Amino acid sequence: MIQISRGLENVIIKETSLTYIDGEKGVLRYRGYNIEDLAENCEYEEVVHLMLFGELPNAKQLQEVKEKINQSYEVPLEVLEAMQKLPRDADPISLMETAFSIMSIWGKRINRLTALDIIAKASTIVSNVYRIKEGLKTKIPEPSESYAKSFLEATFFKKPSADEVKAMNTALILYTDHEVPASTTAALVSASTLTDIYSCITSALSALKGPLHGGAAEEAFKQFVEIGSPDNVEKWFEENIIKSKKRLMGFGHRVYKTYDPRAKIFKKMAYSLAKEESKKYLQIAEKLEELGVRYFSQKKIYPNTDFYSGIVFYSLGFPIYMFTSLFALSRILGWLAHVIEYLENQPAIIWPRALYVGPEKRDFIPLSQRG
Ligand code: ACO
Repeated sequence: MIQISRGLENVIIKETSLTYIDGEKGVLRYRGYNIEDLAENCEYEEVVHLMLFGELPNAKQLQEVKEKINQSYEVPLEVLEAMQKLPRDADPISLMETAFSIMSIWGKRINRLTALDIIAKASTIVSNVYRIKEGLKTKIPEPSESYAKSFLEATFFKKPSADEVKAMNTALILYTDHEVPASTTAALVSASTLTDIYSCITSALSALKGPLHGGAAEEAFKQFVEIGSPDNVEKWFEENIIKSKKRLMGFGHRVYKTYDPRAKIFKKMAYSLAKEESKKYLQIAEKLEELGVRYFSQKKIYPNTDFYSGIVFYSLGFPIYMFTSLFALSRILGWLAHVIEYLENQPAIIWPRALYVGPEKRDFIPLSQRG
């Protein structure tokens, strides 16, 4: 008896030592470490080492990771030039896809050192997505104490505060990996054909940008903007979610049937960072969360990581259009780590089947005889 798995739900495509999720209890771990501990105590570069090399680094190893990243921010001139040639209103992920597509000219097979190089170049690309869209001169990140700080400095061309660096660092850690969602699976499908790593990233980016996946943070925030005031939340919820049956964006998850642990951390960060306007959005989000949790309790639909992350990014000064690119900047590490793990352990081409349900064999009718 053949069974189709809708959306490949519950299909296991690989073994992994990278990320553990307990969707019922709301547990997320990278290589055995709870996300809460990593987010609270680590620099992003420590998580880079953990995901790529298997262990948290000692001081010397951390320094080596940082040095390699610091040496690799430059991207070929053609990459930034091509990004600049796209229309200013181009989708930011299209700019990223363009950049990585061009890099595939120098196509590389993946290894751990290539991965560090790509992580550095991703920072340059995402910084310049913002700068190009804002009509600013392009900028290559410069080495500093941390990846998060270099990224913020290059993007906004000003010194970020310690709190801002900490928040960016934590956001990078929270979005690093989440097992094999659509984008990671897209990267794996490409990788399984033994294509180059930049093409794998382009595949992943295409899957990430949809509103049901990485695009949800932008959509969630747009809801807050549309609602406009905490007093308007109930009316908006009634009209849009209850009557029009629209999806509440930033809610629901394929794996979590409880509160997403990353959403809790993003919510806490949103509180500590929120300034005037973002405070209003935070109040709206909280009220919306309350209604959403109550309304969807039977279906076990709760806030996911994208519900509050936008408020954090907005408080850091990013416009809404940047949220998915920021997600991608972080998730590139997860994509790379999964591709490396897949190719090292189970390098089978991913090639599923479809169940044919069309007509039986039919006699061919020449064009002149078709009615
Ligand atoms: N709002 C309203 N109803 C929802 C939502 C939501 N956000 N999420 C799920 N549901 C409902 C569906 O309508 C469906 O109801 P039904 O059984 O009565 O038809 C049921 O819950 C199951 O939904 P599916 O779409 O089948 O669940 P699936 O696991 O396939 O989808 C998904 C998960 C795509 C994330 C979904 O919850 C969703 O669309 N959420 C909104 C978009 C979003 O926030 N995406 C970000 C995900 S996290 C991430 O990518 C980092």
